[in-house]
Amino acid sequence: METRALFSERRSVTFINKTEVLSKQTLKDIINLAVLAPSAFNLQPWRIIAVTSEESKKKLFDLSNQQEKVLEAPVTLIIIGDKEGYSDNNPVWIEMLSSVGGNQEMVDGSKQAASYLYGSSEERKLKFAESNAGLLAMAIMFAAKDYGVDSHPMSGIDFDGIHKEFKLNKDETVVMTISMGYYDKSKELYPRRPRRLYNEITSIV
Ligand SMILES: Cc1cc2nc3c(=O)[nH]c(=O)nc-3n(C[C@H](O)[C@H](O)[C@H](O)COP(=O)(O)O)c2cc1C
Repeated sequence: METRALFSERRSVTFINKTEVLSKQTLKDIINLAVLAPSAFNLQPWRIIAVTSEESKKKLFDLSNQQEKVLEAPVTLIIIGDKEGYSDNNPVWIEMLSSVGGNQEMVDGSKQAASYLYGSSEERKLKFAESNAGLLAMAIMFAAKDYGVDSHPMSGIDFDGIHKEFKLNKDETVVMTISMGYYDKSKELYPRRPRRLYNEITSIV
């Protein structure tokens, strides 16, 4: 899809066709494209739970203020950020070592810097997890659109409840959820609301 069209045609689609299946392969393709999103030190401090079973959807629906799209969509993704994603046990450090031709000093320096930058307070840890995983979320929505799949992000959800129900570990944080599927064209989306433009939101210093 042409980039400008991607931006102008992506919408948060409230009405998702209940009967149109989203294939596992398409979901895989969307996620494998979206992971090209940038992340600090390429640490990719994120993971995704794809909620597809009726039982899990019902649980997530109740933890999402009963937003119908969670039941209607073939899949809702729980986007999870890792607040400790800079730590030693992230396998990306091993990949980095081979990517930098075995330069251990460089990897150790990066580890130290990442730990200092992102791990020195709870606030920084959360910022690290949420900023990176937030970019993944946006990338997923654009990648989906490119595959003709619509999406709807949600943060009107019970973050703690989802954390508990879907058994996240203590270092993980629920960033948002994204329902995905195909727009039910028999229903009309509300018109897109205007955006605040450059003059209103930008200052030059
Ligand atoms: C982080 C985030 C959380 C959102 N949470 C909800 C939500 O819980 N329920 C909902 O109906 N829409 C939610 N939205 C959708 C916004 O209302 C929507 O993106 C906005 O109105 C702009 O519309 P558009 O995406 O169609 O351009 C959320 C969007 C974002 C980015």
